Amino acid sequence: MIIEKLTALITEALKTLNYPLEDVNIIESNRKDLCDYQYDGAFRLAKTLHTSPNDIGQKIVDNLPPNNLLQKCECLPPGFINFTLSDTAINDELRYMMNSPKYGIKMPEPKTMVIDYGGPNIAKPLHVGHLRSAIVGESIKRILKYYNHHVISDVHFGDIGLQMGQVIYGLKQENRQIEDIDLALLERIYPDISAKCKEDEQLKETCANITKELQDGNPEYRAYWQKICEVSSADIKNLYRFIDVDFDYWYGESDAYQYIDDLTKFLNSQNLLETSEGALVIDANLSSATELPPLLYQKSNKAYLYGTTDLATIYQRMQDFHPDNILYLTDARQGLHFTQVFNVCQKSGLTPHTQLEHLTFGTVNGADGKPYKTRSGSAPKLTDLFAEVKETFTNIRETNQEMSTEDIAIITNAIIKFADLQNNREKDYIFDIAKFSEVVGKTGPYILYTSLRINKILQESQLVPSKLTNNIYNEVDRNLRLQLLKLANYLNNAYTYRMPSYIANYLYDLCVLLNAFYQTNHINNLEDINNKEDWLYILQLSNNIIRDMLNLLVIQIPSKM
Ligand code: ARG
Repeated sequence: MIIEKLTALITEALKTLNYPLEDVNIIESNRKDLCDYQYDGAFRLAKTLHTSPNDIGQKIVDNLPPNNLLQKCECLPPGFINFTLSDTAINDELRYMMNSPKYGIKMPEPKTMVIDYGGPNIAKPLHVGHLRSAIVGESIKRILKYYNHHVISDVHFGDIGLQMGQVIYGLKQENRQIEDIDLALLERIYPDISAKCKEDEQLKETCANITKELQDGNPEYRAYWQKICEVSSADIKNLYRFIDVDFDYWYGESDAYQYIDDLTKFLNSQNLLETSEGALVIDANLSSATELPPLLYQKSNKAYLYGTTDLATIYQRMQDFHPDNILYLTDARQGLHFTQVFNVCQKSGLTPHTQLEHLTFGTVNGADGKPYKTRSGSAPKLTDLFAEVKETFTNIRETNQEMSTEDIAIITNAIIKFADLQNNREKDYIFDIAKFSEVVGKTGPYILYTSLRINKILQESQLVPSKLTNNIYNEVDRNLRLQLLKLANYLNNAYTYRMPSYIANYLYDLCVLLNAFYQTNHINNLEDINNKEDWLYILQLSNNIIRDMLNLLVIQIPSKM
C-alpha cells in the first residue's frame, strides 16, 4: 500500500534525524494540483523540538532515504510535506493490486462474529426503517466476511411482543378461525387494533394480558400465533429474497424463552435481580457516575420484556457460537436499550471476552423532513415502494429498448440501496425516488451504467490485457490510476467503522473518473498497441473493483440497461 510505503520513508528520515518517532499519518492531498499525498507531522514535532515546522519539514525532506517511489517531494511553508508519486511507483502498485487476492489488502486475524440485523416484527407491516436495517446490515455482514471473519447472521424477529396480543384479540373479535388468517387480514387488523389501543387503556391491558398468556403457552393463543408467524414470516422472507438479504438463523425473540430460566439463575448468582413494585429489575449502571434507568426484567404480571429476550438471546449465542463480537443494527432510538443490555452483560460477566457493538442508523425522511410516506400517504408498504421506484425509473429511461424483469429488479434494488448506503448510516436522509433514479449523478444507475460501459469496451477490444508498462499517458489517466490506489484506504475505513458509505463514495468517485477517462481516451481506436493494452489493463482492474465493491453493497449488475 502506498501509504505504508510513504510512512516507512518518513520513519526512516525521523530515525536518521534522531527525531521522536511519532505515529506517522500520511493523508490524501486536498490540493491535487500540488501533490498526491501530504504529511503534516512537522507541526507536531515543532512543539516538542521547539524549532520552526518549516525547518523540521525541510530536514525530513533532505533526509529521506533514496527511493523510486517519489517523483517529487518538497516542504512548503509553513511546513507541509508534499509527495508526488513516480509513474513507476503507481504502476508497481497497480500490478500488485491486480495480481494479489483481495487487491493485496492486509487481512486481520479471523474472528467469530454474530450480526443481528433486519429485526422485523411479525404481523406488523414492514416500513422503510426495516429496509435500512436489512440493507445496511447485509452490507456490513458482507464486509466482515470479506475481511475473513466467520460471520453468523440472525434476523431476530420480533415475534412475541404486544402486537401479537393485539392481532389475536382482533381476530377473535371478528370470530376469525385459524385457517382464515392471511396477509390481507393481518395488514388490516394490526393497524386497526393498535390505533384503538392508543385511545383505550383498558383495551391495551386486555391485549397485554393475551400476550402474557401466549408467552405462558395458552394453547388456543399458541395456535393462532403459529399461523400468524407462518403467514407473516413467509411474506418477510419473500421480500428479503427480492433484496438479496439472507440469514443463517431466522430465530425470533420467542426462541430465547427457553434460556430465560438458566439466565435468571445466572443473574441471581451474581445478585443482580432486584424487586421493585412487584417487578424484577436490574440496575444498569456500571458506576455511580451514571443514572441510567433500571433494565426491566419481568413485569409485575410476570411477563418478560424486550431487554429480557435480548439478554437470553446473548446467553444462547454465547453457548452456541462463542462469538468474539456481537453486532446489532437498529435505529438510533434504541441506544438506551442497548446500553442497558450491554452494561448488564458486563456487570454479570455474561460476555467476558465478547465485544458488543450497537451500530445505529438514522431515519429515512420524506421531502417534508418527517418519516417517509408513500404517495397515498399511508403507512409505506415496502412492496408499494419498490413498485414506485420501478415505475419512476422506467419512465425516465430515454430508450425504449426492452429490459428483462430480472434486470429491472436489479436496477430497482440498486436505486434504493445505493441511495441508502452512500449516507453515513448514523445520519437521517431524505428519500427522493426521482433523484435516486437519475442515470447521471450519485446514484445506483450511474454506477451500473459505468460498469456496463467498461465491460463493453473490454469486450470490443478483443484483447485480454496481461501486462502494464510504466507509462502514464495523460492527466485523466493519472487521476484514474491514483483513485485505484486508494481502494485499500476506503475499504479499511468501511470495515473499521462498519460504514458501507466509504465504499459507496469511493465507487462514485471512481466512476466519475472512469467516465472522464473513456470519454477523452478512445481506447479501441488506438494504434499504439502498448498504450491500448495499458489502458485495457486499467479498465480491467477498475471493472474487478466495481464488481467486488457492488457485491459488498448488495448490488448486482444487470445484463443491460
Ligand atoms: N424488532 C426490533 C424493532 O423492530 C428490532 C430488533 C433488533 N435486534 C435485537 N436483538 N434487539 O425495533
